[in-house]
Amino acid sequence: MNENKTVEYEIIDNIGIIKGINPPVNALSHSVRLGLINSLTELNNNQKVEGIVLIGDGRTFFAGADISEFGKPMQQPDLNNVIKTFEESKKPIVAALHGTPLGGGLELAMGCNYRVAISSTKLGLPEVKLGIIPGAGGTQRLPRLAGVEKALAMITSGIPINASDALKSGIIEEVFEDALVANAISFIKSKLQEESHPVASKLTNKISNVNSDIFEEFSKKIKNKLRGRNSPLCAIEAVKAATELEFFQGLEKERELFKLCHDSNESSSLIHMFFSERQALKIPDIPKETKILPINSAAVIGCGTMGGGIAMNFANIGIPVTVIENSQDSLDKGIKIIEKNYSNTVAKGRMSEDDFKNKMSLIKGATSLESISSADVVVEAVFEEMSLKKEMFERIDKIAKENCILATNTSTLDIDQIAESTTRPEYVIGTHFFSPANVMKLLEIVRGKHTSKEVIASTMKLAKTIKKVPVLAGNCDGFIGNRMFHEYVRQAHALAEEGAKVADIDRVIYDFGWAMGPFAVNDLAGNDVGWRIRKRHKQEGKYDNLRYTSTVADQLCELGRYGQKTNRGFYIYDPQTRQKQIDPEVDMMFEKVAKEKGIQRREIDDNEILHRLSWALLNTGCMILEEGFALRASDIDVTYAYGYGYPHWRGGPMRYAQDYGLKKVLEDIESFRKNNSDMWPKCNYLEELVKNNKTFN
Ligand code: 3HC
Ligand code: NAI
Repeated sequence: MNENKTVEYEIIDNIGIIKGINPPVNALSHSVRLGLINSLTELNNNQKVEGIVLIGDGRTFFAGADISEFGKPMQQPDLNNVIKTFEESKKPIVAALHGTPLGGGLELAMGCNYRVAISSTKLGLPEVKLGIIPGAGGTQRLPRLAGVEKALAMITSGIPINASDALKSGIIEEVFEDALVANAISFIKSKLQEESHPVASKLTNKISNVNSDIFEEFSKKIKNKLRGRNSPLCAIEAVKAATELEFFQGLEKERELFKLCHDSNESSSLIHMFFSERQALKIPDIPKETKILPINSAAVIGCGTMGGGIAMNFANIGIPVTVIENSQDSLDKGIKIIEKNYSNTVAKGRMSEDDFKNKMSLIKGATSLESISSADVVVEAVFEEMSLKKEMFERIDKIAKENCILATNTSTLDIDQIAESTTRPEYVIGTHFFSPANVMKLLEIVRGKHTSKEVIASTMKLAKTIKKVPVLAGNCDGFIGNRMFHEYVRQAHALAEEGAKVADIDRVIYDFGWAMGPFAVNDLAGNDVGWRIRKRHKQEGKYDNLRYTSTVADQLCELGRYGQKTNRGFYIYDPQTRQKQIDPEVDMMFEKVAKEKGIQRREIDDNEILHRLSWALLNTGCMILEEGFALRASDIDVTYAYGYGYPHWRGGPMRYAQDYGLKKVLEDIESFRKNNSDMWPKCNYLEELVKNNKTFN
């Protein structure tokens, strides 16, 4: 037995077993690469050894290159060298896969003669999700094993496939249910008598005579689906090279394109996103060992737009959930919508009938609040009215069992006030889902003054369990996301009052990469939602001293133009196709309002539109950080990428501003402030960062 820190090998029955031991995911760090070459050399030199099995210890086979080494000088041996050594091994090698062999991990496996896997394995080349392309031969070996179409689909989407798909595609040779090592040993023994063993780089039959239209088709699809992204296009070019060049020339082309992507903003932004998403799970004052409350059943109160979607999240992962409505009629309506949502998924072939039945059987309806009595978590999703929420929580408190998490889906209301109506405010927490709640990944978790550490830790864990991306926020009006969004929308309306056209504002934001512009979002969410919130703000005297920019939005609501649901809002919508069309009346309304308010209208260029909207987010984000309602700037980036359709590849609103240069951002803000002082409150946090030449990191 030869021990290396992150790789070790042993010999069982004349078969060498090389094992990666680099928890948690066996990333291919420098010491692992070194250990792999050393172990292989020793096994190759050992006369006794006839064949070799390559495995990963713990939860997965190698899950890729070590992302934290990116941007640092490459320490030899690089992964290409490791794979070359494996491919040239004198003794046949089988890679025995489990967990998530991804990126460099799968590339390494493709450098072995054979691959076998446990049935639950998910394998893929997810590099484009980090703004790069496979850089250790993945774009050259995968098409040789699986064919060009499959390789393009896997590499440009980055989505892993399961073991049975990999078997069908020719990426792996055999699938086992269990006993991976024993089965892999038997497998390699069964191959020992073969005269030669397959080497992926030498295969040519799947890359010969490829119709080059396929590359055009994929490029077209990517340009539509992944607007603004470059790495998937580079990936297509690299795969194309596999069909046109000799293997080693193709590998050089891949390297060139990899470097181009690696040095791009797209990549640094996406890597920032990868680590930020994981960082968001770490709450400085909540130790890892904090007790987690078990959650085996749930209840959702209110089965409207949000409640139905929230309930689906529980059913999707097998947690039984009771939904409570205040009448049988509303309950039937709510459940029907859930059923329709699932049926649509079945119709698209993405869910089986059995799965559908199983999920529906986990969702029970009730009209009495008593039915929450056995739930481990209760999520309240009734109308956004403080008096109603308080009344609900007073009643919930009397029925819910001990240790039950009492969550509210409020989007703006004060969690502490809601908690006060219970005798256990330490169990009350905000779980702000985003619409549609069964689809959107973000879960903003709102910590009240009294929320206990156990409840926060358990809710963060629950968010991961139901496959959401959680971000912890403090209890301010609108929390992180909506507080910033409020300022962003206010800025959009100010721009429209000052002379920019609604469609131009939306175009600039869409072209920047957002899923849609601010007016289109208003129409989608329903303009009446913001209207109700503004009325409450007015009653509370909130923002009374600030310039009011929602006059046109209010007028549209008074006319019943709530947006898509009424086929008219800031745009006109075709009732059948939902296709939107510019409404010239709306621009005229802005002109009229500007006149009444004495606003001098002018031409506003795209740059000003983009920067005023982007810096409105940034300035508010900095205020949230200064006031301690967000833990870190990167949490805000995660919030925007997963909850608001902000382009991930721009790194989030804080990261984008930082890349632009915080000093220049502040100069822009100061110049905007000259004409619009109350739209640009001074933020000490931002000014201090600039003064001290610091960044958010
Ligand atoms: N490098 C460095 N660290 C990594 C890593 C990687 N490739 N993959 C995961 N980690 C770290 C995470 O940052 C996290 O650290 P933390 O606990 O300190 O926050 C820890 O490992 C656990 O990760 P997760 O919480 O994500 O664990 P999960 O079990 O939920 O998911 C996973 C595991 C599916 C492997 C997921 O981590 C993942 O998708 N990782 C990235 C995989 C990837 O992109 N591989 C390709 C890398 S690029 C490449 O290989 C280039 C090559 O072509 C040359
Ligand atoms: P909704 O109006 O679609 O649904 C509310 C449901 O609650 C209705 O079906 C109603 O019958 C039910 N209800 C009212 N009183 C009840 C009671 N006493 N017992 C049981 N059920 C009762 O509202 P929506 O949009 O689902 O909003 C719910 C909550 O989610 C609100 O707090 C809202 O601010 C928040 N939210 C809404 C988002 C959205 O985009 N719609 C996004 C994020 C949060």
